[in-house]
Amino acid sequence: MSILGLHHITLVCANAQRTVNFYTGVLGLRLVKQTVNFDDPGSYHLYFGDETGAPGTAVTFFEWPQAPRGQWGVGGTHHFALGVADYDGLLKWKRRLTDLGLSVEGPLDRHYFKSIYFNDPDGVILEIATLGPGWAVDEEPDRIGTEFRAPPAEMIVSNRDEARIAATTWLEPVPTITPDMALKHGMHHITAIGSDINRTEAFFGGLLGMRRVKMTSNFDDPKSAHWYWGAGEGRPGTLITYFERPRGRPAQMGTGQTHHFALAVADEATQLEWRDKLVRAYLRVSPVMDRVYFKSIYTNDPDGHIVELATLGPGFALDEPVATLGQALQLPPWLEKQRADIERGLVPIKSVNSHQ
Ligand SMILES: [Fe+2]
Ligand SMILES: [Fe+2]
Repeated sequence: MSILGLHHITLVCANAQRTVNFYTGVLGLRLVKQTVNFDDPGSYHLYFGDETGAPGTAVTFFEWPQAPRGQWGVGGTHHFALGVADYDGLLKWKRRLTDLGLSVEGPLDRHYFKSIYFNDPDGVILEIATLGPGWAVDEEPDRIGTEFRAPPAEMIVSNRDEARIAATTWLEPVPTITPDMALKHGMHHITAIGSDINRTEAFFGGLLGMRRVKMTSNFDDPKSAHWYWGAGEGRPGTLITYFERPRGRPAQMGTGQTHHFALAVADEATQLEWRDKLVRAYLRVSPVMDRVYFKSIYTNDPDGHIVELATLGPGFALDEPVATLGQALQLPPWLEKQRADIERGLVPIKSVNSHQ
C-alpha cells in the first residue's frame, strides 16, 4: 500500500481546440482521449499523454469557456513540469518555443535539474525540466530529504546572470521535435502552494507515506521553504513539491489553473485501504468514483487543494484501440443514451496529433 507516483493533472481551459493545438502541435503530446466531464457531461474532458497516456504522463483539461480566469495561490497548484532527457533537449525546446513566439524564461539551474518556463494559451505556468542530475548532488543518496539544503548562492534569483541566461539557447532553429526533446517521460513534478510546510509534510510524508526527498528554499524567493516529496528514490514522475506561503492569497479556480492532481495507487483493493485510512484520519474523502479508465477517490491537502488517488488501470485502450486513441468522442456506458444531445453541445475537435 504505497503511492506509486503521479497519475495525472487536471486543468481548466477556455477553448478545447486551442488546447489541442498547443499540447499536440507545439509540445508533441498525444491526445489520448476525448470524452466529457463525467460530473458535468456538457463539457469536454481531454486527456493528453504519451502513446498510451500511461499514468504519470496524463495531462487533462476540462473545457469551461465561461469560467473566469483563475489565479494561483494557497490551496492550488502553481505549475507543473514535463521531463526532458537532457540539457540539449531543454535548449532545443527553448529555441522551438521562442521561434513559435512564446516567451521563455531560463534555462535556470535548479541544482537538481535544469528548467525552462513558459505559459500555455490559458496562462498555465509550464516548466520543462531535465531528468537529472537528481537529489544526490548535495546529500548522500540514502539520506536525501533529511536535512535542509540551501540553494547554491549563484542560483538564487538576485545572483543570477540574467543576460547570459536570456542569451542561452540552441543555435539552430528546431522546426520539429527531435527524439532527445520528446516529452514522453511525462510529468517531472507538480508544484503547489501551502500555508504551512510542516502541515503539508504531515499529509504527504506522514499520512500518504511519501518520501521527503529535499528540503530547500525557493530559489526565486529564498526566504520561503520549498520541499519535495516522491515515491521510492524520488525519480521524476513521482514528485510533488510545495512552496510555503504563510500569508499567501488563496488560489482561485478558473481557466489557466489546475483543478486537481492525482497520485497513482496500484489497484482497487489498495484504493479502498487508502480510503479507510483517510476516513480514520477524519479527512473528507469521496466514495470510489468510476472514471472508466481508472477508479478515483478524492480528498484535500491541508489547504484544501483537491488531491485524487487513482488506480493505474484499466487505462485508455479500454474503449478504443491504441492506434486511434483520442480521435473520436468516447462516452461512459451510462451517458451513451445521451450521445446525440451531448454531441450537439460540443464543438468537434480537429485532431492535430503530430508525431514528429
Ligand atoms: Fe518546478
Ligand atoms: Fe482526476
